[in-house]
Amino acid sequence: MLLNTVLLALVACAAARTQVRQQLVEEYPSYPAITYCEEDYGLQLYPNPASCHSFYKCANGTLTEEVCENGLLFDGHGAVHNHCNYHWGVNCEGRAFELAPIARGICEYSFGIYSNGPCEKYYTKCVYGEPIDEPCTPGLAYDDRTHSCNWPDLLEYCNPEEVVGFKCPDYLDSKDPAAKFLPFPRFPSGDCGRYIVCVEGHPRLVGCGDYTVFSSDTLTCQDPDYVPSCANYFKK
Ligand SMILES: *[C@@H]1O[C@H](CO)[C@@H](O)[C@H](O)[C@H]1NC(C)=O
Repeated sequence: MLLNTVLLALVACAAARTQVRQQLVEEYPSYPAITYCEEDYGLQLYPNPASCHSFYKCANGTLTEEVCENGLLFDGHGAVHNHCNYHWGVNCEGRAFELAPIARGICEYSFGIYSNGPCEKYYTKCVYGEPIDEPCTPGLAYDDRTHSCNWPDLLEYCNPEEVVGFKCPDYLDSKDPAAKFLPFPRFPSGDCGRYIVCVEGHPRLVGCGDYTVFSSDTLTCQDPDYVPSCANYFKK
């Protein structure tokens, strides 16, 4: 009687384990082990099923195992360094990894990008453990959550007026040319290639792009030929 119960429990347990294993297989693709290159030409990259830190590379038929630098992992996307990407941007899909910070100054990992404060207009990029300061596009500040530069009004501890250098008016007369673009009134920025848009009372510095300049008359981006004060903006 007791033996029967124990046996039943064991069988149930084994069944449960099989189920877990099946779930894992369903959840993650299984990557084959690579022992030779199927193609004689070109470049092919394959995940290493045993590790997210490395991958297999076939270059014109020659197989090598490549290891990502500290702070980087491989999922076939992104190319920060030697086909590897920042660890927070990589989906390892069950392939094992263990992150080991080197913690030298701001460079927590040998390769990474780091914030210098909650509202800084630049960030620090680490390459082989060497910090390099990189500016955000003018008008943006670095956002630790997205690992990219963002509109300052979307940041938590940031003063958009200070970053952009402009304060949106509390009130706009309906005859004011900027009112034409309500609820997102526009203003010149002092730089021909950019203008200011107020979003819920906070300024955003926006680039014109496409070789156009901002006209303070029409409050739109136009060909420099039609904006005499900015005619020479691209001729330097
Ligand atoms: C393969 O060989 C060609 C010709 O020698 C070369 O141009 C190319 O860079 C090589 N590709 C790789 C991935 O090594």
